Amino acid sequence: MQAKIALLPGDGIGPEVVNEGVKVLNAIAQRFDHNFSFTENLIGGIAIDETGNPLPDDTLAACLQADAVLLGAVGGPKWDDPTASVRPEQGLLRIRKEMGLFANVRPVKIYPALAQSSTLKPEVIANVDMVIIRELTGGLYFGQPQGRQDTENGRAALDTMYYTEGEIERLLRVGFTLAQQRRKKITSVDKANVLASSRLWREIAHEVRQDYPDVDYEDMLVDACAMHLIRRPGDFDVIVTENMFGDILSDEASMLAGSMGMLPSASLAEGAKGLYEPIHGSAPDIAGQGIANPLATILSCAMLLRTSLGLNEEADLIESTVDIFLAEGYRTADLACNDEKILGATEVGDFIAQGILQH
Ligand code: IPM
Ligand code: MG
Repeated sequence: MQAKIALLPGDGIGPEVVNEGVKVLNAIAQRFDHNFSFTENLIGGIAIDETGNPLPDDTLAACLQADAVLLGAVGGPKWDDPTASVRPEQGLLRIRKEMGLFANVRPVKIYPALAQSSTLKPEVIANVDMVIIRELTGGLYFGQPQGRQDTENGRAALDTMYYTEGEIERLLRVGFTLAQQRRKKITSVDKANVLASSRLWREIAHEVRQDYPDVDYEDMLVDACAMHLIRRPGDFDVIVTENMFGDILSDEASMLAGSMGMLPSASLAEGAKGLYEPIHGSAPDIAGQGIANPLATILSCAMLLRTSLGLNEEADLIESTVDIFLAEGYRTADLACNDEKILGATEVGDFIAQGILQH
């Protein structure tokens, strides 16, 4: 198969982990006789430094032309000034909007070999295998009006949580469809006891669920969900929720797995197009040292192959090679407990690529 993949390495450890993702994709291309071509463009802080724009036009054009996008991370202390009018994160938000990436899919699963890395007791996390589906192009992140005002009470600012029924319905359908392919359970998370947008969310969820009678449905308030994720995380299968709630809950859920360095994500549009990225950030404190964990990016490449290119066997092979890596006792610095074999980013990429070629 021929496929065009747009690379957006971004800031901090982004370029280091994307390099390893490309190494693994090239190994897959070689092993299965595919032809993947890559473009590389700027996004985030580095794009601000070089062009003044966190999402330059040629970056957006390359992404819109590609079959899929692989992103590293954006942001860092250099661009953190809260009064700055141009920020790296704006590049990420704009590409989500421009590509129509309304569904952010974040799987959280426990690797038995890493049970020790979690801060929670092994028996609490034993059966964790969930997917959080976060609405990504609406809600507080995009609702208008948004901004600052000078009032008679001094400085003020506002954000707006706004949703249309179409935005809610399409996200819910992604969740129900995925639940049908998994353990057939869905939890719709809202704050319907307080927010009007959440009451609309719940109303629509109750309509949409009629079309999926085989899926076990529950509503949950977001504060209760934050608690149950720690208390009984193994009970969740698919969670669907609005943008900001999903941002917070998915970071919380990521800690069940021990390290953010293991968790991939996909941001999907209607159709097969998607943007894939590790859920961790740019980790400026360890950038340039070669010790970043590239596994979340490598696992994001597996999601890319499966979801945007329909290459299931290839995706399975990446995931099973990661399983072997961990089972053989190899670790990256973020996962290390005691005397495991600690590898740097390049060595991890080499190990996975070799495993794929030798399979
Ligand atoms: C994420 C990140 C982003 C978000 C930031 C970097 C804008 O936290 O992808 O979860 O809030 O969506
Ligand atoms: Mg986040």
